[in-house]
Amino acid sequence: MSHNSAPKTYKVKSFGCQMNVYDGERMAELLADQGMTAAPEGADADLVVLNTCHIREKAVDRVYSDIGRLKRDDGSVPLIAVAGCVAQAEGEEIMARAPSVKMVVGPQAYHRLPDMVRDAAAGRPSTDTDMPAATKFAHLPARRRTGASAFLTVQEGCDKFCTYCVVPYTRGAEVSRPYADLIDEAARLVDSGAREITLLGQNVNAWTGEDAKGRKVGLDGLIRALAALPDLARIRYTTSHPNDMTMALIEAHASVPKLMPFLHLPVQAGSDRVLKAMNRSHTVESYLRILEQVRAVRPDIALSGDFIVGFPGETDAEFDETVRLVETVGYAQCFSFKYSPRLGTPAAAMGDQIAPEVMDERLQRLQAALNRTQLAFNQASVGKSCEVLVERRGKLPGQWLGKSPWLQSVHFFADVTLGDVVDVTLIEAGPNSLSGRPTMQMVA
Ligand code: 5AD
Ligand code: SF4
Repeated sequence: MSHNSAPKTYKVKSFGCQMNVYDGERMAELLADQGMTAAPEGADADLVVLNTCHIREKAVDRVYSDIGRLKRDDGSVPLIAVAGCVAQAEGEEIMARAPSVKMVVGPQAYHRLPDMVRDAAAGRPSTDTDMPAATKFAHLPARRRTGASAFLTVQEGCDKFCTYCVVPYTRGAEVSRPYADLIDEAARLVDSGAREITLLGQNVNAWTGEDAKGRKVGLDGLIRALAALPDLARIRYTTSHPNDMTMALIEAHASVPKLMPFLHLPVQAGSDRVLKAMNRSHTVESYLRILEQVRAVRPDIALSGDFIVGFPGETDAEFDETVRLVETVGYAQCFSFKYSPRLGTPAAAMGDQIAPEVMDERLQRLQAALNRTQLAFNQASVGKSCEVLVERRGKLPGQWLGKSPWLQSVHFFADVTLGDVVDVTLIEAGPNSLSGRPTMQMVA
């Protein structure tokens, strides 16, 4: 069918990592800047952007079933754009398989979305999967809408080439955004209400830049500069790679009060042989040494990680080492996944792929261990007083939800509003959240 009129309403649906969520927000801002409005929850939109993820599982199949579901009762379809990493990996193939898709736009090219929408509405479908070095940011409108907690992408791409991972191919090489642009974007986010900024990057701690005086700075320097924004209460960063964990960044956890005591540092596996086969370039011991250094400067740090079970060739004994590592570290929270072969990555071509039922069993055992350490971490917080950033209303009248410094969800009743930082005593812990009671009057 043809689309004669320009779309007036849009919906951006993001899947996958926080960087995709950030990209989704920026695409929404771009469309709003063109005069379009967000379709209300549950209503049809004239334009739907599926912002896809390619990291594991049947992400591609998922995209096609999502496209199918966009067909309306009367048989018509909205203008459909496929964005994100599936768009990058599949390119024009998507329109060949799903002709209702009129735009395919990669993660480094989405600043072109308004042009592509105009063309598609005039009956000219297009694909753009170019990967210029992070130039899209210069073409995006200024930030203006945000909640209490906002994302800020500071670095994109990855040069590490872990053998299972598709990111170096879909997001390209590591590129850092310039220091001045980030300070500017952060200031705008704070002006529009953000009290917390989470700095994002596939290898966020590989970020480097030059400050106003031309001095080379690392992520610790950027964090210190952002900490000077008076109305910004909290800074976080994710995801870090063990190899880029500098002493300066570790030390920032001691000396920058606004930097929250939380570190997401994926290890992936607890066996040195598997880590080598994954091309992780760290060992279990070197990883544990980093955690020791962080704990030495910030004893209350909450630790988080990513794990893959069932990497090709992983034996029962090697998997047991992963469970032991989880128990040794005592993670506050973690993500764990079954290994999923990604076409074109070295691991997909390795022999000795693990049977699905073995993966299922390992994932269950690992998640049971992670749930135990997470509950233990939450229980150990009971009785503590801490600041909670108010991020959402709870389900009950007068109830609010926020995050502790250690990124735990905390619910409580108080006379507060979104974006407040409240002093709360943690009184009860579950595996996924805690309940709290306001300790005193509002702090900020
Ligand atoms: N299979 C399973 N998990 C994967 N991850 C990355 N690639 C794969 C894959 N092929 C996981 C890693 C990474 C997180 C973002 O996704 O744990 O840290
Ligand atoms: Fe993928 Fe490894 Fe790069 Fe992380 S560090 S994005 S797992 S290649």
